[in-house]
Amino acid sequence: ATKPRAAQAGVAGTVDTQAAGAVAPQMTRDNGAPIGSNRNSLAAGDAGPVLLEDTTLIEKLARFDRERVPERVVHARGTGALGIFRATADISPLTKASLFTAGKETPVFVRFSTVIHPSGSPEGLRDPHGFAVKFYTDQGNWDLVGNNLPIFFIRDAIQFPDMIHSLKPSPVTNKQDPNRLFEFFSGTPEATNMLVHVYSNLGTPASYRTMDGNGVHAFKLVNAQGQTVFAKFRWISHQGVKSLNGDAANKAPFNYLTDDLYGEIAAGNFPTWDLMVQTLTADEVGKLPYNGFDDTKEWLGVPFRKIGEMTLNKVPENFFRWTEQSAFAPANLVPGIEQSPDRMLQGRLFSYSDTQRYRVGANVMDLPVNRPRVPVVNNYQDGQLDTATGKVDVNYFPSVTQQKAVDPSFAPTPYKVDAIVQTAPISKTEPFDQAGDFYRSLKPMDKADLVKNLAGDLNVVTSARTKTIMVSYFTQADKDLGMRLAKAVNVPSSDVSKAVADYQAAVDARYAGKQ
Ligand code: HEM
Repeated sequence: ATKPRAAQAGVAGTVDTQAAGAVAPQMTRDNGAPIGSNRNSLAAGDAGPVLLEDTTLIEKLARFDRERVPERVVHARGTGALGIFRATADISPLTKASLFTAGKETPVFVRFSTVIHPSGSPEGLRDPHGFAVKFYTDQGNWDLVGNNLPIFFIRDAIQFPDMIHSLKPSPVTNKQDPNRLFEFFSGTPEATNMLVHVYSNLGTPASYRTMDGNGVHAFKLVNAQGQTVFAKFRWISHQGVKSLNGDAANKAPFNYLTDDLYGEIAAGNFPTWDLMVQTLTADEVGKLPYNGFDDTKEWLGVPFRKIGEMTLNKVPENFFRWTEQSAFAPANLVPGIEQSPDRMLQGRLFSYSDTQRYRVGANVMDLPVNRPRVPVVNNYQDGQLDTATGKVDVNYFPSVTQQKAVDPSFAPTPYKVDAIVQTAPISKTEPFDQAGDFYRSLKPMDKADLVKNLAGDLNVVTSARTKTIMVSYFTQADKDLGMRLAKAVNVPSSDVSKAVADYQAAVDARYAGKQ
């Protein structure tokens, strides 16, 4: 399936270059049979109808009709590139993951994306930006499916479909509507930290090359002795973090992010990132003043150490085959890297592979972009578009005639759970502190841009209740932010104070506590 169609028909030459004087390859149908006309349908005379028996025409239209797979339900607009990851430190005391042997090189495929807007949307629209990396390691594929921002809006996967519905165009008008998304966020105070990030200029990066990347969740690292620590990953751009303000983003050319990435790679200016890691023991996670497995929080103040470097050096030769069909999944982990109890991560472990089996098909992992660079040995079979070859009779386990090995050292690391099974919020839910820390870390110009960007959307909201509650959340993050926003969106300060008081009175009933 990776061969050019001309080559499949046994004809020399490639589809896009042809030596001068070379004989042009004969065009064929998909069955390989040569065709006699590619311009004129088979018609009954000059004025007669086109005939159903024109198999060349029917096949050509039918293939065209099927050129799209459903686009991703989120992150549909994306750009992919190939490159190399090089481990730069020995972190064997932390993890047995084979890719982290110092000096080792691992090929990668990276897909950057926006989240909410469809695949044909302009690239200047405000959004978190996806930063998904597929490492083709010698122990299988590891996908670090992250964003440019270090935190997320919500902390439990069960809220994700509701949140995305509120952010996507209205099912009635088919337009994105701040009334809908802020109604959702007015009931979701934990989103305040993500909202100040996404409405800052980080929501409109100057280029994909000038974004950092974040794994966001905690993961569990396991070393060869079975000892574990929890870890968060971050990519630091060698190009520096650069963003656009709202006005510049509105004027940005339609494809500016893709043009920049592909232009720089073509010019040999290969973008590079450092891979950094933060680690904490389970005890240290427990002692954090917030919940360390809550993805609306960063591990602020926990030092980072550099463990590798990634360089992107190649634009894939075909957008659809690589970028569109790529299937990143947080469940694609390798020995030495395991999941943490983060409730968002737990939901993501299911959702990605599930949508890909629906969106691309049961054999999605056999496509060249997704196929591991190590042999895949299991008894899975058949399904749509099965391209496997070879004769296999023993498609069951165990078998003595054809044995397959299973090494217990690759089993998930055992851990103890002593808990009541229940649907209850996580502990330590305080939603505003880090949003305030972020605001106070901004330069004066960036603070002004954040207020302007937020006010732009909040001013579209017609419900005074929604607007007031949103301002009350930003006020609880930082008084200065709240005051500037209240002024920019015309909410009286007495209304904000009342909303803050209402929240404080209700908070213990709505959440497990504010330890
Ligand atoms: C893509 C679900 C949270 C980053 C997707 C896709 C789904 C999904 C269904 C489309 C995948 C495909 O069609 O191939 C969810 C759910 C979440 C969640 C259920 C919460 C429970 C997050 C978070 C991040 C994130 C927290 C960042 C850390 C991404 C990225 C992509 C993506 C980067 C695009 C991958 C690509 O380039 O193909 N998500 N997501 N998502 N998600 Fe999430």
